[in-house]
Amino acid sequence: MPDLAAPRSRILGTGHYLPDVVRTNFDLEKMVETSDAWITERTGIRERRIAPDGMTTSDMACFAAKQALDAAGILAEDLDMIIVGTVTGDMPMPATAVYLQQKLGAPHCPAFDISAACAGFIFGLSIADQFVRGSALRNILVVGVELLSRVLNWKDRTTCVLFGDGAGAAVVGASGGLLAGDGKPRGILSTRLHTDGSLARSLMIPGGGSESPMTHERVEQKKNTVHMRGQDIFKVAVKNLYSASKNAVDMAGMTPEEVDWICPHQANIRIIDQAVHRLHVSRDKVLVNIDRVGNTSSASIPILLDENVRSGKIKPGHTVLMCALGAGISWGSALVRM
Ligand code: ACO
Repeated sequence: MPDLAAPRSRILGTGHYLPDVVRTNFDLEKMVETSDAWITERTGIRERRIAPDGMTTSDMACFAAKQALDAAGILAEDLDMIIVGTVTGDMPMPATAVYLQQKLGAPHCPAFDISAACAGFIFGLSIADQFVRGSALRNILVVGVELLSRVLNWKDRTTCVLFGDGAGAAVVGASGGLLAGDGKPRGILSTRLHTDGSLARSLMIPGGGSESPMTHERVEQKKNTVHMRGQDIFKVAVKNLYSASKNAVDMAGMTPEEVDWICPHQANIRIIDQAVHRLHVSRDKVLVNIDRVGNTSSASIPILLDENVRSGKIKPGHTVLMCALGAGISWGSALVRM
């Protein structure tokens, strides 16, 4: 059983940003040999957002972060740390968090990126939780942001139909002993993080690093774009998302049925449905936006979370179970009482 009196961190505010440009499955039908029926049936995706030329990853992160700061009722100058989960940063070096710090006008607090692909936000949330509980840091900005449209091969139908651009953010701070209406503590109740590097080559951008430095030839071979063996990922996704979710709930001394909302990474509606089925949770509790935004990798969970906080669906005191799996493969879960 968890120690109810233990110091806790809490999500103080959330925000998100989605670019205005919508690319539908019908638009993709004109670009590659695919169909709206195939994409909808196999993935649940109907459309995704595409960032306009000139917009950077840190621009999108900044829009989402400003909303989260407003919702938390703090200023950029109050930030003690900035963590950005992304695999599509402004540039390989320095970190996107560095540019975000500058754009927000935040102080000289530590600012760094996490490369955990779709699990990036969960990894960031867990790190922020450790810092708030274990040190004097008060306000940590955690962002999940991806500009995947710039690293896709728009001639490869097996990947280009899946992904979209967007950003989500949360401010994590001390809970201050806040209790929900039922007298239970609000805050991050448990997190679980995992990586299995044996599947590293199932989902990757193979070029541009020390293994295959970028050359004209490699660019022509599209080594600078996403390569995926989708079925490798699909097979482990259901099993790992289920076990990480179950473990997070067990750690908090709860059962999956007691959780108010499931906020899963939006990679494929079939993965979500199968994982939720194993958890024996009502489908009504499952938050979904994959039809409108596609797979936005690390931005997926914080976008979905913020949309449902802003719509009033997720209320203070509600428990939210988040779970994500992506390249690495890395996966994780977090159980939070809002
Ligand atoms: N349109 C039409 N046909 C297509 C398309 C498309 N867009 N893409 C593939 N096909 C074809 C294939 O070529 C294949 O044809 P064939 O039978 O003639 O060879 C057929 O459809 C079936 O292909 P599969 O790959 O077996 O299709 P599957 O049902 O596995 O769906 C998918 C593919 C959607 C990618 C699925 O495997 C999946 O969702 N995998 C997990 C993805 C994931 O979660 N990634 C991790 C997160 S992303 C991150 O970390 C950044």
